[in-house]
Amino acid sequence: MDMLAVERLTKSFGGLIAVSDVSFEVPERRVTALIGPNGAGKTTLFNTISGIFAPDRGRVRFDGVDITGWSPHRITALGLGRTFQNVQLFQNLNTLENVAAARYCRTGSGLVDALLWRKRDRADRREMFGRAAELLDSVGLGDKRLLMPGELPYGDQRRLEIARALATEPTLLILDEPTAGMVAREAEEVVGLMRRLCASGVTLMLIEHNMNVVMSVSDKVVVLNFGRKIAEGTPAEIERNPDVIEAYLGRDE
Ligand SMILES: Nc1ncnc2c1ncn2[C@@H]1O[C@H](COP(=O)(O)OP(=O)(O)OP(=O)(O)O)[C@@H](O)[C@H]1O
Ligand SMILES: [Mg+2]
Repeated sequence: MDMLAVERLTKSFGGLIAVSDVSFEVPERRVTALIGPNGAGKTTLFNTISGIFAPDRGRVRFDGVDITGWSPHRITALGLGRTFQNVQLFQNLNTLENVAAARYCRTGSGLVDALLWRKRDRADRREMFGRAAELLDSVGLGDKRLLMPGELPYGDQRRLEIARALATEPTLLILDEPTAGMVAREAEEVVGLMRRLCASGVTLMLIEHNMNVVMSVSDKVVVLNFGRKIAEGTPAEIERNPDVIEAYLGRDE
């Protein structure tokens, strides 16, 4: 069963076709990696799947539901969580509050509601912060819950973003470069986290430039180049695909 089906998706900016006629499926309870050179259209594809952009053409089906053209909020509520290539955190809330605020988005809506957590009754708050603390533990930030985002090293900010996305209780979690800026040991921790999430039933999709991460965590790899899908397959198949090698290294002439 496929958790996500992208069908002939196209998104352009003015004259630039950033995503061109792309189709692929994301199998349930598996890890699917989206790779490709800088500017290939990976983030645009994620933004079109998650409702930030409406596609020019094509459809997106999530868990059997056609979500094409839906708002990001509605798509999140249906169970699609995401992180951003440029980390997006509430800078004036501490780590724990950042996760709790995202959790409130599960039932409330938008930023203003998210910041009104103080108005909720005590039992609600206890539940909300209790769950947020568990999520921070699960991404390895349990001892940093009172720090502000700006006080965290970059790798920790990325993990905090994952905890925020998990707070929305996603069945599909899409991560845009979750290991960017991390040293090898930190990247390995994120790989471990992704494996645990997958084992707990979450379907994962990630954009990733670190090939060690791609090869070790993915069940399936989709490759974009200049907005088009040029290959898909297992990591082993992708590694030896001549079109993929050429896209990364350039033609050998
Ligand atoms: N909001 C936008 N407005 C105009 N052009 C955009 C916009 N977002 C992306 N682009 C362009 O679309 C193309 C694809 O960009 P995108 O960010 O999707 O690539 P990417 O594969 O995520 O690259 P990277 O690996 O560097 O993150 C690029 O040429 C980029 O300049
Ligand atoms: Mg990108």
